[in-house]
Amino acid sequence: MPILKRQLHLGLFLFSTGYHPAGWRLPEAVADGAFDPKFLHRIARRLEEAKFDFFFLGDALATSPDMQHQFPSQMVRLEPFTMIANIAAVTERIGLIVTANTTYSEPYTVARQTASLDYLSGGRLAWNVVTGMDIRAAQNYSREKHWDNSRRYDYAEEFVKIVQELWDSWEDEAFVRDKESGVFVDGSKVHVINHHGEHFSVAGPLNVARPPQGQIPLLNAGTSERSRELGAKLSTAVFTGQILIELAKSFYADIKTKAEAFGRKQNEVSILPGLVPLVGRTAEEAHAKYRELSSLLVTDYDLSALSARIGIDLKGYELDGPLPDLSLSTLPGKESEWLVELAQRAEGRKEITIRELFHYFAATARGHLLIVGDAKQVADRMEEWFTGGAADGFNICPPYLPGGLDLFIDLVIPELQRRGLFRTEYEADTFRGHFGLSRPDNRFARSTILEGAGE
Ligand SMILES: Cc1cc2nc3c(=O)[nH]c(=O)nc-3n(C[C@H](O)[C@H](O)[C@H](O)COP(=O)(O)O)c2cc1C
Repeated sequence: MPILKRQLHLGLFLFSTGYHPAGWRLPEAVADGAFDPKFLHRIARRLEEAKFDFFFLGDALATSPDMQHQFPSQMVRLEPFTMIANIAAVTERIGLIVTANTTYSEPYTVARQTASLDYLSGGRLAWNVVTGMDIRAAQNYSREKHWDNSRRYDYAEEFVKIVQELWDSWEDEAFVRDKESGVFVDGSKVHVINHHGEHFSVAGPLNVARPPQGQIPLLNAGTSERSRELGAKLSTAVFTGQILIELAKSFYADIKTKAEAFGRKQNEVSILPGLVPLVGRTAEEAHAKYRELSSLLVTDYDLSALSARIGIDLKGYELDGPLPDLSLSTLPGKESEWLVELAQRAEGRKEITIRELFHYFAATARGHLLIVGDAKQVADRMEEWFTGGAADGFNICPPYLPGGLDLFIDLVIPELQRRGLFRTEYEADTFRGHFGLSRPDNRFARSTILEGAGE
């Protein structure tokens, strides 16, 4: 068999008004796409034409209008299971990632919903396992408070184990459907799970047959030790927000090392940082668009968060004056210098003001790397992260939609393909297939065979 060259995994992380907080204000941007199925279909189809691995829908269980100037795209959106069912009907090959929060659901419900969506999509589903980062969700789910990290991840681990067992509760051969004899199902191939754990009691079997992929791939994201462990142990891919390549490399190495400790091969878990590509036909066009977006930010230029980020109190400095002496930073290491360098690159020049540094900081507030440039410059940076041990691919977050995605697809994807870094055709039809995974055996079928062999 030929040894396949390692290639990027690329997905779209949907921010319907664009990742940039002011993305929706551009004259050409669609501002109300979140509730427009035609717009969402157009995005999904474009991704599929470009051979993306997946279309990813995040989710949150609380909101308020005061998010409007920072995270307008996170404020209101369609419920992801419903939306993915609809997207599945208008696409054929692209993987689809749905987010389900373990803290506020039940394993039987999620097993049923995900298995159903795996059928409706022809085996293209993956589940982004989250435990919830918005403490206000508790108020919407009749809870006194949002649980702490360790309780949420204890609960999540037990939750996921049950879901995975439920997916296996029907063996593939359980369905006889013999019209002659009238036998529809072979009951010996249907399994209860009888789970009695710390948080859940679930008997099973699931009322959906084993999903087409057998086991639906899991993904997760997180910074805490517990979530890193969950990812290293169970996830096909781990999402992360990284702006600095040096920190991205250490996150990458940490997850891969942990995965090995759980008996997995390093390449069984992919690390996918977010990437916000602001692409132009020329570098100047990209910088001009970046400046236009910066000018549309609605902000009072409160510098306190930026001061903390660079370790220098910016009170008393001129907003339109030069940057302070970075050697004054109280932070260890070079993080403040690296952030400044990124802002300089985005502006396309070295001499930047505090206001311009703030613009870069505001544009990346959700923690994903913003790159401004032409196709070659963007592809160079992607290649640097990919070959330098910082990423196995990216969660692409266009700064505005649909134009920001179109430019990435029309200009950067062909450049990556020319370099042999990204596929030109799909090799598979399922999410597992896009990540090189075969369909696993059913745990219950295997144990039956082993039991049989011992008799
Ligand atoms: C790329 C990315 C996507 C995420 N998507 C979601 C999401 O859709 N819903 C959610 O509740 N949390 C989401 N999170 C948050 C993580 O699941 C996690 O809760 C957060 O990073 C805090 O880490 P911790 O859970 O380890 O404390 C996302 C994080 C990243 C980096």
